[in-house]
Amino acid sequence: MVGAIVALAAVAAGGTWVGSGATPAPQPLTDAEFQEASGVYFQRCAGCHGTLRDGATGPALGPVTMRKRGTQVLEAIIHNGLPGGMPAWGKAGLLTPSQINLMARYLQMPAAEPPQLSLDEIRASWRLIVPAAERPTTPQGKGDWRNYTGVILRDAGKVAILDADTKRRVALVDTGYAVHILRASASGRYFYAIGRDGKVTLIDLWFPTPTTVAEVKGCIDARSVESSKYAGFEDRFLIEGCYWPLQYVVFDGLTLEPMTMHDYPTATFDEGKTLREVRVATIVADPEGPRWVVALKESGYVALVDYSAPDFPITKMIPGQRFLHDGGLDHTGRYFSIAANERNQMVVVDLLKGERVARIRTGRTPHPGRGANWKDPKYGWVMATTHIGEGKLTIYGADPAGRPRYAWKVVRQIRLPSPGTLFLKTHPRSPWVWTDATLSTDPKAARTVCVYSNARGRLHRCFPISTYGRATHIEYNRQGTEVWISNWDRRGEIVIYNDRTLKPIRRIRGSWLRTPTGKFNVTNTARDIY
Ligand code: HEC
Repeated sequence: MVGAIVALAAVAAGGTWVGSGATPAPQPLTDAEFQEASGVYFQRCAGCHGTLRDGATGPALGPVTMRKRGTQVLEAIIHNGLPGGMPAWGKAGLLTPSQINLMARYLQMPAAEPPQLSLDEIRASWRLIVPAAERPTTPQGKGDWRNYTGVILRDAGKVAILDADTKRRVALVDTGYAVHILRASASGRYFYAIGRDGKVTLIDLWFPTPTTVAEVKGCIDARSVESSKYAGFEDRFLIEGCYWPLQYVVFDGLTLEPMTMHDYPTATFDEGKTLREVRVATIVADPEGPRWVVALKESGYVALVDYSAPDFPITKMIPGQRFLHDGGLDHTGRYFSIAANERNQMVVVDLLKGERVARIRTGRTPHPGRGANWKDPKYGWVMATTHIGEGKLTIYGADPAGRPRYAWKVVRQIRLPSPGTLFLKTHPRSPWVWTDATLSTDPKAARTVCVYSNARGRLHRCFPISTYGRATHIEYNRQGTEVWISNWDRRGEIVIYNDRTLKPIRRIRGSWLRTPTGKFNVTNTARDIY
């Protein structure tokens, strides 16, 4: 496949590629160029191709292969993208021609290994801004803080906190570069924001204006944090899992003071092959005990970290499937369901028994976010995933107690108009499941959301949320009566729908609302409602 792609790219580049390994040596990079290229690689490419360029969602980009492609072909690939999910960096205006040339030369150099981060360095980055004793003892805001919703403003490095009742903005908080997600503490009082640069920001929602009370950087590159939620441990600890270095870090939940840091085994679950890069994907708090469920992406293990034990050890490694990505809990909290996106599967783990119970074949590149739970009229409780690689909602039985015949089996496959879906979402009070198509290459499809009827077991309607931008990420208010969707654009919008009538009821706009992506309602996030 790569051969054909390279030939195509070569045609696009002007047809000078000769098909052998002989391409001229790239022009060497100056120190300043190398710095710039590493920065771009780290921010734009590492997420899919791996920090060490060993490959993940995208293929490995080793110097030997890249030298064979040569500068011109690489420039064409980076400019135009590739059909299998490689973005068109030049066409989309995300990289300039000179940056593309730089990246094409950079990829032909040996991969630079980013530095490690020691516990001492993590401690040195810790900043306690407001000690716990100086924080409010009762909620001081005007509205109902349990219905606050944090909105990630991706390119602005900020999180906006909105009141889902009044739709007013109550705070605009500075966070790390490109926040990936927010998690809530068990009580819901605190938001933890995790930036792709590994910086964690602790936001206290009880101040009259929600305020950052602590921050720390436990990783150089990261995507996930989770709080301790089990009875007796509420709001006490926080775990951060790194993309780089290969470690997880535990902090005091109220101050972010670093407590411990651990690395983890890097052998693959199936072949025992030791990898150079194993990243922490999703983490959830285990409702069955004082544990975090930590997905190790490349090795395919689901690790259980015990936060009731001194020093927070890994107590179990559950074999899952390679390339674990995102997922969430079933409606009882006993089962954790996670996408192995490169294997086109969902993996289900029984948290009570600590073992894998199923691997479900889905469509191309499943991407459920945290997933969705609802009751199907025929199949009982179900879960589902959408896909990046094809337009399909795959629904599987998730009711081993009530409907064992259908448990962990695909029961419905619903055609969606376009691939490129990142998220689906429902709420226990909603009659629908909502899906986006954010990564669709068709601009109209990328602005379109679809609504599936739980009661009728079929697609109800698809409609665009705006005349521009991309629709992404769906979240409910605390009551489960209204749905918030981001228009991911420089001129961003939050479009709010009445969840019964599907009519838009409000468009939140403003110069501050730049590139809104994920939205996290306090109650829904603290209680894992999805
Ligand atoms: C969203 C994920 C994603 C991101 C981000 C991404 N890529 Fe890719 N890339 C892919 C995928 C998937 C492929 C393979 C596509 C195919 O085969 O059709 C690919 C292929 C490539 C190839 C061709 C590899 C070969 O063997 O010929 C190059 C070169 C490349 N990417 C460079 C980059 C650079 C440089 C960046 C950052 C500016 C980047 N990619 C960012 C997903 C990504």
